[in-house]
Amino acid sequence: MSLSIQHLNKTYGSGAQRRQVLKDIDLEIGDGEFVAIVGRSGCGKSTLLRLLAGLDREHEGRLLHDGVPITGTDLRRGVVFQDHRLFPWLTVAGNVMLPLAELPLPAAEKHARVLERLARLGLADHVDAYPKAISGGMAQRVAIARALVNRPPVLLLDEPFSALDAITRGRLQQELLGLWRDEGLTVVIVTHDIEEAVLLAQRVVVLDRSVRRIQSVDLAHPRRRGDPAFGALHDRLLAEFHDDLAPTA
Ligand SMILES: Nc1ncnc2c1ncn2[C@@H]1O[C@H](COP(=O)(O)OP(=O)(O)OP(=O)(O)O)[C@@H](O)[C@H]1O
Ligand SMILES: [Mg+2]
Repeated sequence: MSLSIQHLNKTYGSGAQRRQVLKDIDLEIGDGEFVAIVGRSGCGKSTLLRLLAGLDREHEGRLLHDGVPITGTDLRRGVVFQDHRLFPWLTVAGNVMLPLAELPLPAAEKHARVLERLARLGLADHVDAYPKAISGGMAQRVAIARALVNRPPVLLLDEPFSALDAITRGRLQQELLGLWRDEGLTVVIVTHDIEEAVLLAQRVVVLDRSVRRIQSVDLAHPRRRGDPAFGALHDRLLAEFHDDLAPTA
């Protein structure tokens, strides 16, 4: 098992302000698996991803990566957010280099790794550009290159394509699938978009404080939105959201 979530509970605040955001979550994510987490706004998706990343350490229950408790961020888990979070005063290459800064590697080796990652993400011609000079889609590619520069086995993404136009989003979705396939990554992606989840993932987890449903998506890639089986899965998952809106008696 790559990632293991056992009896996870998460609360924010204390006293009268105390709020349970994640409740008794159990989820096992296998090596090389592609999992999407969907759910309505505020259901705890980002909280769960931050815990897996080790960006937030306060929780009850167990979070394991390869059987070892997650106690902080780790170069074995790359993270990508909705906003690229690039440093404007560093070039594209400088930003991608950052995770390697503390590693005991020769500078030439670090440089080679950065260039290889940038080439893989189609950014070979933009190595020396500054973030403000590149498009939003390119900036998000840089963020992915940075997350993967140390060749982590796990990639965690929180709404990585939500701010992009439809065409750029489609390209980056395919790019992500290619990376997953070629590099044997374990991918966990948080998304609002059920269609994106069904397009990409092997399993879709519907979160609503607890795990509400886990849906396998046994469709071969490339998946087509027009495929009836795709539509059926999409509608089944969407129904979980509609239940939330149903008036309670
Ligand atoms: N640092 C924090 N302190 C207190 N409450 C928080 C904190 N971070 C998140 N919350 C609350 O916890 C709940 C879950 O937030 P979270 O960001 O995980 O939801 P989400 O599913 O990612 O939502 P969205 O789809 O809007 O991104 C929300 O009600 C949010 O207001
Ligand atoms: Mg969120």
